[in-house]
Amino acid sequence: MTVCCGPLLAALSACLAATSCTGVQSALAPSGYHAGRIAALFWWMTGVGVAVWIFVVALALYYARTANGEQNRRRDGWLIVGGGVAFPTITLTILLVYGLAMIPETVARAPEGSLQVAVTGEQWWWRVRYLTAEGEQAVLANEIRLPVGEPVQFRLDSDNVIHSFWVPSLGGKMDMIPGRVTWLTLRPEVTGIFRGACAEYCGTSHGLMSFYVQVMEKAAFDEWLAHQARPARLPADAEAARGAGLFLSNGCSACHTVRGTPAAGVIGPDLTHVGGRLSIGAGIMDTRPGQLRDWLARTGHIKPGVHMPAFGMLPDADLQALAAYLDGLE
Ligand code: CUA
Repeated sequence: MTVCCGPLLAALSACLAATSCTGVQSALAPSGYHAGRIAALFWWMTGVGVAVWIFVVALALYYARTANGEQNRRRDGWLIVGGGVAFPTITLTILLVYGLAMIPETVARAPEGSLQVAVTGEQWWWRVRYLTAEGEQAVLANEIRLPVGEPVQFRLDSDNVIHSFWVPSLGGKMDMIPGRVTWLTLRPEVTGIFRGACAEYCGTSHGLMSFYVQVMEKAAFDEWLAHQARPARLPADAEAARGAGLFLSNGCSACHTVRGTPAAGVIGPDLTHVGGRLSIGAGIMDTRPGQLRDWLARTGHIKPGVHMPAFGMLPDADLQALAAYLDGLE
């Protein structure tokens, strides 16, 4: 037995030790109620599967060693009916019922009055809108912040191709389908930063379509959301002010909104508070000015197929000024 279980146990231990089973983007390191339920189902399925495998291999080894040609029809008949029909039927039925019973609670809507967040899948980024009964409270991109311990109702859609919204540490995945709205409820239980990803192939840069979810204490979240709802702050220095001018004169405002300025484009991400975000380019770069400058100059190299043109033809000083302006939009 030690011989046949050794590799399996080693594989399981290696999996647990590897980053794929821990960290900010792992369904096996649940930090939300729904992710916890899904992880429990996974471990039950795995545990029972391993137990059955060990039982079957042990039985096979036993008969391989003891078989001496003589047959015991009565014993063999019981083994076939018991081990081949009854045992798998009972085991699989129990696991099936356990799994199916979990569906209603994992797809249930959040209670009336819960926080409502609309997320739209774009190619290849996420448009995020915090909704109120009256309309939108704040618009941002590629970043979601949530209060800890509260159910959140996500309203998911897409106007291009099918994407799939997935934050493995917090819950299950849900498709975003053109022409219809899908719903997902999450209830984070731990504060921290988690990573989400698109889980449905959606074109060239599908693999570069990520986002971050920051789970915060309620008071800090309320403060953050109120800040997101406010217009952009004014440029803090001369270089940022020059960047603000370049932003308008180079046509950036045709695609991007910076609330409180004439920039009101809706094709690309809302940049009103882009400098305060955890990432740009949908989870692929951080927001240091050097990274912003790099992104502006080489968008298509960094993210193949991106709709935003590269502005590498601008003088370096202009790119620096634009980056300074965007970095200051906290
Ligand atoms: Cu969006 Cu894959």
